[in-house]
Formats: sequence, structure tokens, C-alpha cells
Amino acid sequence: MSIEQLAETALAMVAPGKGIIAIDESNATIKKRFDGVGIECTEENRRAYRELLLSTPKLSDYISGAILYDETIRQSTRDGVPFARLMADNGMIPGIKVDKGTHALAGFPGEVVTEGLDGLRARLEEYYKLGARFAKWRAVINIGDDIPSGTCIDANAHALARYAALCQEQGLVPMVEPEVIMDGNHDIDTCYEVTEVTLRSLFASLYEQNVMLEGTILKASMVLPGSTSGEDASVEEVAAATLQCLKSTVPATLPGIVFLSGGQSDEAATAHLDAMNRMGPNPWPLSFSYGRAMQSAALKLWSQDIAKNIADAQATVYERARANGLAALGEWSKAA
Ligand code: 13P
Repeated sequence: MSIEQLAETALAMVAPGKGIIAIDESNATIKKRFDGVGIECTEENRRAYRELLLSTPKLSDYISGAILYDETIRQSTRDGVPFARLMADNGMIPGIKVDKGTHALAGFPGEVVTEGLDGLRARLEEYYKLGARFAKWRAVINIGDDIPSGTCIDANAHALARYAALCQEQGLVPMVEPEVIMDGNHDIDTCYEVTEVTLRSLFASLYEQNVMLEGTILKASMVLPGSTSGEDASVEEVAAATLQCLKSTVPATLPGIVFLSGGQSDEAATAHLDAMNRMGPNPWPLSFSYGRAMQSAALKLWSQDIAKNIADAQATVYERARANGLAALGEWSKAA
């Protein structure tokens, strides 16, 4: 795969006013979300829910692509159209989560490392044939007493770089996601420091593994106070800290950065992205790859009547996409 093709895909993922919807919850994670609203976690309900999301009318106005899960990329609409084809036919790029989740990092209590490198080349080859053109890998960095360690950060960065190199070899754009977790009572400055060290380690590893940044997308967490810190940071404070941290660590050759929502409210996730874009011009397009902040309202509505509430739930997906699409341009306002 030529770097030009990878770069073209990467740029399309962050086209002006568009972002990604993350619907790549593992079966264990989607069960948690379904349990939260009283939906039984059967294969058919998971399929029906993903069909609802992906067939939202005019979704591609604001959505450039979606990240799918292994089960989902093999599923089809009720009428038998494979989800990856439905997306491509509607101008959206299929993506796939390829990591195999986090596991305890031996010797480092409280820390985790993401697994999934063994056999990855063959899996990527299959996902490409199934229609995927980008692939996500999520690393998790927890903040707590004496953590994260440098060992944990570097082990995760190394795995991210190994996966990214394999993706590019197989023609998929890597969406590298080092998530600094919001849980904890740390302050915003601690989140800044941890995010900075994490990104430095990540980009050093990407360089060492010959990953071409022009064909790579970063999925970043925002710089926020810990969720139980009691600290209240303003929208501008979060936006300025996040931008400063990214500018001092992320090369300008990267085609784009998308954010995860990480447990922020729908409105906070949108407001923070909007504020960062208003503070531009920035070295890269800044957009979204939200999971919960794109889906929560729709899931709640759908759960009230899964046979009847499809169109209403889709209308809320479209609204969230529109708000975040405007935020990706710095043109969102609360009332809009
Ligand atoms: P959230 O936006 O819900 O954090 O999910 C995004 C994601 O893909 C996490 O890996």
C-alpha cells in the first residue's frame, strides 16, 4: 500500500466538519451499556442497534467513518447488506478495533498493557478484505498513587507502534489511541504531565518502528482534572491545556487528531472540541471519535421501545453528529 493511499484515507477521516463515530464496544462493554438501560445483550440486539446507528439518515453529513468491532464487521442489515458495504455506499469509511483489550502488567500493580499483537498481520489482512480501511488500538494509562510508571507508558507505546507498523503494511491507517484515564482525584496539571510523557513516548516509538506519520491518526484524550478531584476546570482551561500539550508533543506532519469522550458529558465533549478549534489555527485538524458522547442519548431513547423508537433514536444520533461536526469547525453554539 502506498503512503499516498494511506494519507488520502487519513485526510478523509478528518475532512472539514466531519468526525468518527466509535461503535467498537467489545461484547463485554456493550453488555454493560445495554444492562444500564435494560436491553438484553443478544447477538440480534447488538446487530439491530448497530444497524440503527449506521443507517441514520444523512449520517455522512458529519460522519466520515465508524469504528466497528469484530462481530459487527461480519454482520449485515436486516435486508442482508454487510455493514461495511452499507457504510462505503453511503460515503463513510469502515474502521475496526483490533486490540484484544487490556491485561495486568506483570510486576506493576494497578497498571495495564494492551494485548493483541500475536497473529495481528493475518487478522489485518482479513479485515482489509472485509472492507476496513483504518484500525484502532487503545492503550490505557491509569493515574494514581505512584502510577503511571515509565515502564507502563513505554510498554504501551511500543505495542502501539508495532501495531501501527503492521497496519500500514496491510493498507490500513492506524488510529493510535493512548487513553489517559479520567478516573481519579488527580488535578489537571497531573493529567497534563502524564499525557505529555505518554505522547512523547508514543511518537518516539512510532519513529523507531518506521511508522509513517502522514498515514496515521492520533486518537487523544483531553487534559482534564480527575473525575473525583472536585476540581472544576473551565471549558477554556481544558481546551488551552489540551492544545498546549498536543502542540508540544505531536509532529505537524500528522494529518489529524480525533478525541475520545472518555466519560465526559455529551455537552462537555462538544464544548471542549469547539473551544480548541476556536483557538486555532492549529497544526492539524482536530475532530472527534466519540463513543459514549455520540450514542448515550440514542441508546436511552431506543431502550424505551426497541421496535418503535428507531427513527427518534436516529434523530438524536444525527443531532449529536451535527453538534460535533460544527465543533470540529469551531462553529458550535449551545443553542445550535
Ligand atoms: P468514548 O468516547 O466513549 O470514550 O469511546 C471512544 C473509544 O473508542 C474508546 O476506545
